[in-house]
Amino acid sequence: MVPAKEDPFGRIRDGALAARWGRVVWIGEDRDLESQVTLDGDALDAAGACVIPGLVDAHTHPVFAGSRADEFAERVSGVAYRAQQSGERGIARTIRATREADVSTLLELAHDRTNRFLANGTTTIEAKTGYGLDLDNEAKSLEVLRKVAERTRLRVIPTFLGAHVVPPGVERRAYLRSVIDEMLPAFRPWAVFCDAWCEAPAFTADETRTLLTRAKALGYQIRVHAAQLAPGEGPDIAAELGARSADHLEFATPAQIKALAAAGTVAVLCPAANFTTHGPRPPIEAMRDAKLPMAIASDLNPGTSNSESLPMSMSLACVQWGMTPIEVLAGATVHAARSLQLEGLAGCLAPGSFADCAVLDTETPEAISYYVGVNRVIKTVAGGVVWRPS
Ligand code: NIG
Ligand code: FE
Repeated sequence: MVPAKEDPFGRIRDGALAARWGRVVWIGEDRDLESQVTLDGDALDAAGACVIPGLVDAHTHPVFAGSRADEFAERVSGVAYRAQQSGERGIARTIRATREADVSTLLELAHDRTNRFLANGTTTIEAKTGYGLDLDNEAKSLEVLRKVAERTRLRVIPTFLGAHVVPPGVERRAYLRSVIDEMLPAFRPWAVFCDAWCEAPAFTADETRTLLTRAKALGYQIRVHAAQLAPGEGPDIAAELGARSADHLEFATPAQIKALAAAGTVAVLCPAANFTTHGPRPPIEAMRDAKLPMAIASDLNPGTSNSESLPMSMSLACVQWGMTPIEVLAGATVHAARSLQLEGLAGCLAPGSFADCAVLDTETPEAISYYVGVNRVIKTVAGGVVWRPS
């Protein structure tokens, strides 16, 4: 995924790479390997398979307990996602189940999810809190992320999503004060990013702006759930604050898309969530025209996308939205890495990058999205080590 003279993606036929201490030290044609590199470690023969950079999933919510399978079934019969977000249903249900679960239960659940990510070729995830939604339970969620990161080969980049929704039983202004005055300063050492959901049923534009401006002043990098269910100011706020990502964007306007491109923000699109909520197609052509980088993410979460399969999301973006197989491969590698400030390290294979790759049983690298819903990953390598489920 690094441009070369004849190919924007730098594909190498009959390629080889060498890694030391988890980083790529050499990449090129197999016939040059032994004359250019002293080999003294383990060898892995890909035997004619395709090797791509480990996939990078720039939007996931892996810390939660409980199931909302019944809500999925209701939506299939025509109930709207938004109509499910009232009383003790929807996100509120997951908040209750997550608060009731202790660290070790949440850790087991999150760890199982890391195995499913790795099995599907993903080697880096952005991982949000957002189902604790009070000081203690958000701290617990961040603790789960730290502990799961120690136990898995998956790279886990933590995001504080205290501004997911206002939790049940708390007055809005009191909740916002608690996020701004208590949680944001307390969690700064534990989260790289701060995210907020800017639209009903979550936060207004004013609330989002106040909260994320404070987060930025404290040194967080910004992400925004924006214009997923309706048009709104979320994308404008993302551009104003120089957010690393603006996510979902089904209802982004052409002007907002231009503003995001000018701000250097990455659009993180979530096809599986769009699919199960019967959302409209995001304005892909306007994003292409504006040269706004489009990342593809699984959006793993219990409400709209209970799937760790980034290849499935890539297939959906092709079939449902008309993105090309090459666009979605770039979306799940280089563009996703850029949104996480990991350009040159993740989502590509080059000297200095992480030795993270997925070995595919496919005829071309981009054919990964052609195998809809079928896992064609033969092996996942993370930090130079072949991953085995744990
Ligand atoms: O990314 N947009 C907000 N959050 C999630 C859904 C959360 C849930 O339903 O539990 C999303 O789609
Ligand atoms: Fe989300």
